[in-house]
Amino acid sequence: MAFTYFFRDKQTLDYAIEQLLPRVSGKSKIKIWDAGCASGQEPYTFAILLAEKMGKFSFKNVEIHATDVDISNQFGELISTGIYPYAELQRIPEDLFLKYFQKHETLTDTFQVIYELRSKVKYKREDLLSFVPTSNDFSLVICKNVLLHQNYEQRIKILEMFYSSLSTGGLLVMEQTQKLPDELSEKFELLAVNAQAYRKI
Ligand SMILES: C[S@@+](CC[C@H](N)C(=O)[O-])C[C@H]1O[C@@H](n2cnc3c(N)ncnc32)[C@H](O)[C@@H]1O
Repeated sequence: MAFTYFFRDKQTLDYAIEQLLPRVSGKSKIKIWDAGCASGQEPYTFAILLAEKMGKFSFKNVEIHATDVDISNQFGELISTGIYPYAELQRIPEDLFLKYFQKHETLTDTFQVIYELRSKVKYKREDLLSFVPTSNDFSLVICKNVLLHQNYEQRIKILEMFYSSLSTGGLLVMEQTQKLPDELSEKFELLAVNAQAYRKI
């Protein structure tokens, strides 16, 4: 199983939302790509934070495309059902846990993400090393703790693919330790020195 957990690096996700919302105001479809989503903890955390900030009505316009190479072949099932053991959910603030999860009817100590969030997170098995952009109109690409697995040349090609996947002015967010290669400095502008958050130029 990939290493990940709910509410991991909330600070960066909050910053991404702060940057994203003014840019997508009035849009009828807001497309977000979580590349390397593992078994769903990150896209569902982002969905919770976004739903809290946007409110129910505007959140209806959100689509979160969650993709992973998934060598275990289990992520699709986990993400579409949104069923997690309670032990995995304890980092979620209690008010949000009560609001966005419901007790599973038959499985003990197991909870399910509510339908309103599940319906917004769509999983697809996809290898970033295919370098094929899935779309060209994402408002945000989140790719955290994934590129460290790739070599420098592969990283550049993946980041170029993210560039093609974003709409003009779209955002890219990575983990704090993932720096943008110099070769791409004319494609992305750094938004804050203390965050690996970029705007497509
Ligand atoms: C450490 S997890 C990160 C999960 C989540 N993004 C986070 O930060 O918590 C790394 C994920 O990257 C995925 N991954 C690695 N190489 C990949 C590739 N070439 N294409 C798509 N996903 C990949 C792994 O399968 C794994 O689920």
